[in-house]
Amino acid sequence: MSTDNFIFRMATTVMFGKGIVAQLPTKVKEFKKDKVLIVTDKGVRQAGLLAPIEKSLADAGLHVAVFDDVEPDPGLDTIHQGAAFFKEQKSDFLVALGGGSPMDTAKGIRILADHGGHIRDYAGMNKVPARSSIPLVTIPTTSGTGSEVTIFAVLSDWEHNVKITISSPYLAADLALVDPLLTLSAPPRITAATGMDALAHAIETYVSNLAQPPADTLALKAIALIGANLRAAVANGSKPEPRTEMSLGSLLAGMAFNNAFLGITHSLGAALSGHAHVSHGMAIASLLPYVMEYNAMADLGKYGDIALALGEKVEGLSLRDRAFAAAEAVRNLTEDINLPSRLREFGVKEEDLAGMAKSAIGHGMVKMNPRHPNETELFDILKKAL
Ligand SMILES: NC(=O)c1ccc[n+]([C@@H]2O[C@H](COP(=O)([O-])OP(=O)(O)OC[C@H]3O[C@@H](n4cnc5c(N)ncnc54)[C@H](O)[C@@H]3O)[C@@H](O)[C@H]2O)c1
Ligand SMILES: [Fe+2]
Repeated sequence: MSTDNFIFRMATTVMFGKGIVAQLPTKVKEFKKDKVLIVTDKGVRQAGLLAPIEKSLADAGLHVAVFDDVEPDPGLDTIHQGAAFFKEQKSDFLVALGGGSPMDTAKGIRILADHGGHIRDYAGMNKVPARSSIPLVTIPTTSGTGSEVTIFAVLSDWEHNVKITISSPYLAADLALVDPLLTLSAPPRITAATGMDALAHAIETYVSNLAQPPADTLALKAIALIGANLRAAVANGSKPEPRTEMSLGSLLAGMAFNNAFLGITHSLGAALSGHAHVSHGMAIASLLPYVMEYNAMADLGKYGDIALALGEKVEGLSLRDRAFAAAEAVRNLTEDINLPSRLREFGVKEEDLAGMAKSAIGHGMVKMNPRHPNETELFDILKKAL
């Protein structure tokens, strides 16, 4: 794969706009199904986002059931519980309402409803045997994961303290309704952590070994949107404009990394989440600047582009200084939005790092990283971040 040889896939239809979620009942009916299971979580319910959607579906004459037992960074048991509930309710349609956790849970439920077995059997690339007959609509309420359009589901295997990724083109939702107004209620800390996850998606995919022109274009635009709006979204979450730009930024980043994949911030982040039970966004935010410093020498030009997209003054700087300005810009952003920038703030100890490096080196995204690390180098990055 290179600049003149690439495949760009986008299996999910996207409808974007303030209030677009009102289209849901009409869209469900277009699929000629009528027993909807909404997969969500208690936080989304408490924020008042579920009730109007549930009512709009019921008012349209559809049968609605709700599975709201999804926890952040969901475990494998949750997927099995959701699949059992889907079967019990005789549902034939899935709506995922929430952040990456409910969206990935719905993807997992769909796999089990179609093919049975244990969800762990589908971990890795292309283990899902066929396209689903159950339509899935994703409705994101965070500006973060991009899961509304991605071919990935990331789940926590607490038996082995690792995050597993299921990746298959058959995981992509049929329709994503991206309504920025649903993100207004996200509290500052969740806005900050999920926003840094979206930024990491855009940055990692832009420098990935599988980088390609369409994904590059989406990623650079996403970096600029997130760089210009994340602070404002954290400072005053009730303003629709920065929220709309963040929703767009995380969507574009999702479309990009669906095609050009990610790098070792996500490998180390998965290890950190597995070992120390740190939420995905927080883990990613704490690691990103250190990984950027490590990676910069692999592609000074592209890291310079990132600095520029983040609004840094790069005129007159050497290529090397531009590249390192990108890492510094991300570090300043993390600090401004009050996220931890040291692993010790999560209770991580030096003796934990070797196990984390060992688990990260086996992660699928290491191969896509612009610089090829060995286990010792991953350990060194973690030590710097400690
Ligand atoms: N599938 C993918 O492509 C992909 C990519 C990156 C990350 N992930 C996974 O997604 C998960 C993380 O998802 P996330 O970061 O979106 O967070 P999340 O879904 O875990 O939500 C975090 C918290 O925010 C609350 N919340 C969400 N929206 C809210 C709103 N509008 N108002 C008030 N509260 C709200 C939830 O109730 C929850 O308590 C992780 O498991 C991660 O590994 C998946
Ligand atoms: Fe992520």
